[in-house]
Amino acid sequence: MYKLVAFDAYGTLFDVYSMGQLAEELFPGNGEALALMWRDRQIEYTRLVTMSDTDPKGSRHYLPFWDLTERSLRYCCKRLHLQLSAGDAQRLMDQYAKLTGFPDSLEVLRAIKNKGLSTAILSNGSREMLSSVVTANGLAPYLDQVVSVEDVRLFKTAPQSYELLLTNFPLAKQEILFVSSNAWDALAAKWFGFDVFWVNCLGHPFEEIGERPNFEGSSLSDVLAVL
Ligand code: LAC
Repeated sequence: MYKLVAFDAYGTLFDVYSMGQLAEELFPGNGEALALMWRDRQIEYTRLVTMSDTDPKGSRHYLPFWDLTERSLRYCCKRLHLQLSAGDAQRLMDQYAKLTGFPDSLEVLRAIKNKGLSTAILSNGSREMLSSVVTANGLAPYLDQVVSVEDVRLFKTAPQSYELLLTNFPLAKQEILFVSSNAWDALAAKWFGFDVFWVNCLGHPFEEIGERPNFEGSSLSDVLAVL
């Protein structure tokens, strides 16, 4: 019944916490803390930008996700009292641009394409960084479209960001399955009106507000069972 399976990118197809390894190499004893805080602050910045100006033409505070990611890194290093040299920042951001995909990302996309369904990414990521990470992981042949919120200059969870899937694909909401490992993203997509698969790889409880996702699994491959 679904015609399109649309994936969140960071945290769902690509492992944001894999940054912890390089962070640990650069800042021994602080890698995991930095990776966690970096991700949280990055998302916090997207929310600040979006909530502080909800103009349908885009937030005047908008900065590409790439820039927010780098500024979040700088903030977190200051906060954790870590000296971030220009070389360290470069290495971390270079790795972010080619972030490791989860082991099953490519196979899952390929299997969905083989079933005759369309596939897409819908991400906060800016177009250039998405293009880089998709290419680095060899996913381009298995994705019909990579949709970036750059087109609306409002980050998830603004409804306009989810609406982009309807603008880019001539489909009804109920023909789209949205897949995310981020519970907040899964929740907002459900509020928007999509059916949602939550990839709960960390075994976390779901949020205590909103509706539960339609489906839940512990790995990306579990999505295949509901198609
Ligand atoms: C994304 C982030 C939010 O890819 O995970 O949209």
